[in-house]
Amino acid sequence: MQYQWMTLLIIPIFLCSCQGNKTQEEETEAKTLSDYREPHRNQYHFSPDSMWMNDPNGMVYHDGKYHLFYQYYPDSTVWGPMHWGHAVSSDLVHWTHKSIALYPDELGYIFSGSAVYDLGNTSGLGSEDNPPLVAIYTYHDAEKEKQGDIKYQTQGIAYSLDSGDTWKKYEGNPIIENRGIRDFRDPKVSWYEKGGYWLMALAVKDHIRFYQSPDLKTWTNLSEFGHEIGAHGGVWECPDLFPLTAEDGTTRWILFVSINPGGPQGGSATQYFVGDFDGITFTPDDEKIRWLDHGADNYAGVTWSNVSDRRIFIGWMSNWQYGQIVPTKRWRSAMTLPRELSLVPFGDEYIVRSEPVKELGKITKDSKTISEPQATFDVVENLSLPNATYRLTTTAPSDTSWHFNLKNDAGAALSIGYDQLSGRFYIDRTSAGNTGFHEAFGARHFAPRLSDKEQIEIEVFVDQASVEVFFDGGNTVMTDLFFAEDGLPIIELGEEGSVNPFSKCDVAGMERIW
Ligand code: FRU
Repeated sequence: MQYQWMTLLIIPIFLCSCQGNKTQEEETEAKTLSDYREPHRNQYHFSPDSMWMNDPNGMVYHDGKYHLFYQYYPDSTVWGPMHWGHAVSSDLVHWTHKSIALYPDELGYIFSGSAVYDLGNTSGLGSEDNPPLVAIYTYHDAEKEKQGDIKYQTQGIAYSLDSGDTWKKYEGNPIIENRGIRDFRDPKVSWYEKGGYWLMALAVKDHIRFYQSPDLKTWTNLSEFGHEIGAHGGVWECPDLFPLTAEDGTTRWILFVSINPGGPQGGSATQYFVGDFDGITFTPDDEKIRWLDHGADNYAGVTWSNVSDRRIFIGWMSNWQYGQIVPTKRWRSAMTLPRELSLVPFGDEYIVRSEPVKELGKITKDSKTISEPQATFDVVENLSLPNATYRLTTTAPSDTSWHFNLKNDAGAALSIGYDQLSGRFYIDRTSAGNTGFHEAFGARHFAPRLSDKEQIEIEVFVDQASVEVFFDGGNTVMTDLFFAEDGLPIIELGEEGSVNPFSKCDVAGMERIW
């Protein structure tokens, strides 16, 4: 497990030696701005204009804007020396690209991390009148790593005094040294109101370490969690710790831990724990393994800081198994739709529900009902859309198995279904276009049903290269990529000779955001 980074790095280093500096095609393309209409370019999801992106980083709400930073390599479409790319949005739907916020420096590449608004200027990096935004991230020293020194990951901070436009690294970096652990990264910092201190969750190889700080600069160890609990098929990365309160008034603390590999569909995925946090220690309610998203393509996601009344999440919509070789040319990868998280009871436990943020209503056109159950419905034709970008909502019974297909004229088809016998949902993308770039890509992914209601609510967001399915109001979520030419505009609810179990199916076009 401790060689995780070696494996991950060997691939990019190898790839970079042949394409680390931009290929001629990349070079020419990067000079002009994208029109965001390339094949497989998602139309209402965030993606970089060009080049490589992975984890969302430093998400903070400030001064009416949601900031989204992200792991970015501006010199190639595969992973390389990490920077923090930057974009802002006032509605979580439309994004404006900003200049790169953080560049690698003599302490290393800029790996994943978080950002906070230091309202009380506890760090002293701003002033009472102009409190700073502070980013807390991991330094990855590739030189040290090459030399065989395992202490190559440390933590650093940077700050902004102009609402995130420009960033300055703190002179006293690193703020947390490495004492001999290879995987030591992805600090997620929040203000712990009850104790009046900053709290950091850090991924340390196979567990999470919690730290506290009065000023974001000096950190003391609080506790560790996870050595012998949860999924351990891979290294632990990108934690997040926050409270959620259910409608019945129950508050639980939620701990997100991304792991790679070892996800339920192979490769990377995000597990979560439900428990209690007393200011020092996280204590889980049980030993169950839970996944935030049961699809193959939602990784390293965390939540926005400084949003007082909601818990908003976004994830990297890809998987380390094949993220670097998916068939897009100018750029690689997109983020999931932003999702609002809530705590809901299920049996004698509480689970995390994910729902697409309500702001997406802004780009959702009036819906049409598919009234002819056996017919196929072409969204591009019927909703006058330029692309296959739509939301489908319907309900289906839980006492029978069912499925429906999303297709195109070239013969690609993706199935979404329910297997009544095992009580599982699935997405089958084996025939949904190009799957040949990686042996694990063409697969059927299963997810447990986490509801005992008679009727199953289904909400599906389809973009040019992704499908996000929210079952039972978001108790079970599945996010999967696909690479079908011109997307999947045709909805097929009932195949010939089969019974269509869907009560009412509404389809609404989703407007492009670029
Ligand atoms: C997760 C991750 C993080 C790391 C970053 C490097 O996808 O491996 O642990 O900080 O990506 O780009």
